[in-house]
Amino acid sequence: MTLLQTLTEQLGENKVSVGEQIPAKHFSDASLFPPTVPIALVRPSTTLDVSNILRLCNAARQPVVVQGGLTGLVGGAHPKGDEIAITMENMSAIGEIDVVNRTITVQAGATLAQVQEAASGVGFFYGVDLGARNSCTIGGNVATNAGGVQVLRYGTTRRHIAGVEAVLPDGTVISSMSKVMKNNTGYDWPQLMAGSEGTLAVITRVCLNLMVAPKPLLTALCAANSIEDALLVCRRLQEKFDGKLVTYEAMWRNYMEAGEHWGLLTAPFNTAPDITLLVEAALGMDEAARALFETTLFEMLEDGLLHDALIAQSESDRLRFWQLREANYEYYRHASKEIHYDIAVPLDRIAGFVDFAETSARQTLPGSRIVVYGHLGDGNLHVAIYPADAAQAIIPFETAFYDAVKACGGSVSAEHGIGVAKLKHLLHTRSEEELQLMRTIKTALDPHAILNRDRVFTAKPVL
Ligand code: LAC
Ligand code: ZN
Repeated sequence: MTLLQTLTEQLGENKVSVGEQIPAKHFSDASLFPPTVPIALVRPSTTLDVSNILRLCNAARQPVVVQGGLTGLVGGAHPKGDEIAITMENMSAIGEIDVVNRTITVQAGATLAQVQEAASGVGFFYGVDLGARNSCTIGGNVATNAGGVQVLRYGTTRRHIAGVEAVLPDGTVISSMSKVMKNNTGYDWPQLMAGSEGTLAVITRVCLNLMVAPKPLLTALCAANSIEDALLVCRRLQEKFDGKLVTYEAMWRNYMEAGEHWGLLTAPFNTAPDITLLVEAALGMDEAARALFETTLFEMLEDGLLHDALIAQSESDRLRFWQLREANYEYYRHASKEIHYDIAVPLDRIAGFVDFAETSARQTLPGSRIVVYGHLGDGNLHVAIYPADAAQAIIPFETAFYDAVKACGGSVSAEHGIGVAKLKHLLHTRSEEELQLMRTIKTALDPHAILNRDRVFTAKPVL
């Protein structure tokens, strides 16, 4: 019997698709790599299904790729032609919400938005948010240690993990779903899963810590005329608001210009500033909170650190401000040729780094558009290049770009991971010794290298 026949027998026909039965959305993720048809698509609905799939594939030395919401930009979930794709879409149940221990347990295929809604349904709050919230899954969030727009205040996904259940390549189910806050009992393997990009195990269930809901957010759109000023504003807001600054997003002038050029947004200020900032603070809606928010921004206008500011007066104002920041998803759909860099740079090096990138793009990629935006509060920049033509030499630009990231002590991937797209650049941020340690861990858990092979680093089967 072939592997596919055995899988079909074990799982049932409705859980295994091949050829034209596979919906086209499983041929790609959001990385813009050419669509590729996997050998088959399997749809587990239980942890036992996942265990059976991996046990059989491992025995047959059959590589698999794990698919969550397919929102990743670095090709981690993009199938290769010799892989079986495992979609987690039928494992999306929201399980127990424990109000005493303040946790939520969900299957890996639940979306981030489902978790956010379930938490707020009982008056709690989940501390991760990002633009792909309606499609990205919790399993993918853990596997990539997703960041997003509130990292400044609440950290990345790893900070919210209470427990993980996962399946090793040989089919072994490992589970650490204890809800206790303190658990120093040897290696913290659930944390090892965070950021492993599906190379070590398939995450099947996650127990997440919830928080007491913070006070409602006050929101402003601000204009600054230099990155130095914008960073000073950030520091001052954190101090004045006593750590309650939740979001500090930046859109460079070139971001606004691109959006206007493509008719995807309308500039919010009469005079276009160098940096447009989206600021949110969990101060509450009462009069005293509003007064603090307004006077703090007003002081900075008086000091010349800001040159304009708009305070949201309603939820619809707030959504309008957020539409500006999330217009990048429209850019992405609009220009099918986007080349995306997701990097982290120490705060004091951002100004010099962006100057360098803009100059370098002007000189080496004539006619191309460069767009810079991102999570300024935590030093995570998104740099998108819209090449003038498909044949344009991006390689020299990219080499200089990543060398500059390294030179300033940054990271070649802030929040999207390495996937396939950044394989060549891992050693800009990690040492040979670190890579060797990663290989040792990979080999110990996945000796036949069947899981998300050649994501993060190339992995040769050792057995
Ligand atoms: C964002 C995605 C690109 O921040 O990470 O919009
Ligand atoms: Zn981002």
